[in-house]
Amino acid sequence: MSATGLPPDLLARLDDLLGSGGLLTDEADCAPFAIDWRRLFPGRPAAVARPSSTAQVASVVGLCREAGITLVPQGGHTGLAGGATPDASGRQLVLSLARMNAVRALDPVGLTMEVEAGCVVQAVQAAAEAAGRLFPVSYGAEGSAMVGGMIATNSGGINVLRYGMTRNLVLGLEVVLADGSVVDGLRALRKDNAGYDWKQLFIGSEGTLGIVTAAVLRLVPRPRHTETALLAVPDPEAALRVLAAAQDGLGDTIQAFELISRCSFELLERYAGLPSPLPPSPWCILLETGSTLSGLRDAVEGTLGEVLERGDAVDGVLAESKAQAAGLWGLRERITECEAHQGKSVKHDVSVPIPAIPAFLEAADRALAEGAPGTVPNVFGHMGDGNLHYNVLIGPEHDSAAINRLVHDVVDRFAGSISAEHGIGQYRVDELARRRRPEEMALALRLKRALDPDGLLNPGKVLRV
Ligand code: MLT
Ligand code: ZN
Repeated sequence: MSATGLPPDLLARLDDLLGSGGLLTDEADCAPFAIDWRRLFPGRPAAVARPSSTAQVASVVGLCREAGITLVPQGGHTGLAGGATPDASGRQLVLSLARMNAVRALDPVGLTMEVEAGCVVQAVQAAAEAAGRLFPVSYGAEGSAMVGGMIATNSGGINVLRYGMTRNLVLGLEVVLADGSVVDGLRALRKDNAGYDWKQLFIGSEGTLGIVTAAVLRLVPRPRHTETALLAVPDPEAALRVLAAAQDGLGDTIQAFELISRCSFELLERYAGLPSPLPPSPWCILLETGSTLSGLRDAVEGTLGEVLERGDAVDGVLAESKAQAAGLWGLRERITECEAHQGKSVKHDVSVPIPAIPAFLEAADRALAEGAPGTVPNVFGHMGDGNLHYNVLIGPEHDSAAINRLVHDVVDRFAGSISAEHGIGQYRVDELARRRRPEEMALALRLKRALDPDGLLNPGKVLRV
């Protein structure tokens, strides 16, 4: 073994293959790849391989396979579950897809776009916008997150309500398998029912079944009119009534329906100096609608008028300009960052049936007050998808694993999911095993063994293998 934890002949062959800047072995150079941005999942890579083509990815996998070295695929490293971080052994190779960042093709009529895994999500959005189209996946980390990670984690974000998760927006996929072979399914077809839809296996598999190297993404027509409003609501029941009114009055123009608690606004003011435009309220809703047709503003004003008159919303602001709308979204998107400034928190990414949200919140608050006194829930998230980030601010005296279990126990009572959009990574491996049915876990294991029999790809993520 060399100082990096890799056999010297493997290092030499990787160096040869990847050329200048393609292989990082120096500890300082590898440091940014060793830990997630929240600094919760530290690891120690043996080295970092930075291939610039699919063929190079396949060769790296082939070489590692021969040498019995495990690989951790990594994109923008913005995940919230530690899925792209190596373990502490110093024997895993991080495979960064960042150099594979080409937009290969864009078809504005067929509404498709072929991109490489290292493309930053924001760059994909910008390319679509330049062609007058929309790539709808959007979330706070989009300036760093990459397509490969977006697909590997089936990421969600703020537009899922209208356009679905990443899975709904992937038409074709190219993956490198654990045996080093390349499967090219880069078809730009909107309908393709020929045989197994195998790409679905890799979407959301967090790099444990194969390595995504390129994809054909689905674009949508760009709404020419958008309306963004922030509404103060007295309680989650009222928020549900506002959602129903929006569904009635605004139909499928609703793009986002986000719930934000007062705690989140307090953190925004304290750590980002961003005050809410509305007086303090226990809950707020951030609603966005979009349409290519005119008349949207009247419809939104009508719905807002209705919910204000009924008292389901007690106050509200409808953005008058793009800048004002961006300001409202700026609040929503900086909650996570402000939460991190505040100190330690236990993150949750749960979903429950939408009508059960008020009862879930009440039950979770009660469980927390009884089981972990002194903790503070910081709740926000994608209420229109039934997905809440029921994050818990804790002090040094609190046991984060116990709080995690306590909140997930409540989720189970409502037949919910312990990860709606962030994935399992290493953070939720034990919780997944504890809560999924044994037959589901056995099936997952069979898939893993079939596709990666030697356990080379991202071991310890999603499953304990
Ligand atoms: C968000 O919706 O802002 C993130 O997915 C949630 C988080 O930071 O917990
Ligand atoms: Zn989220």
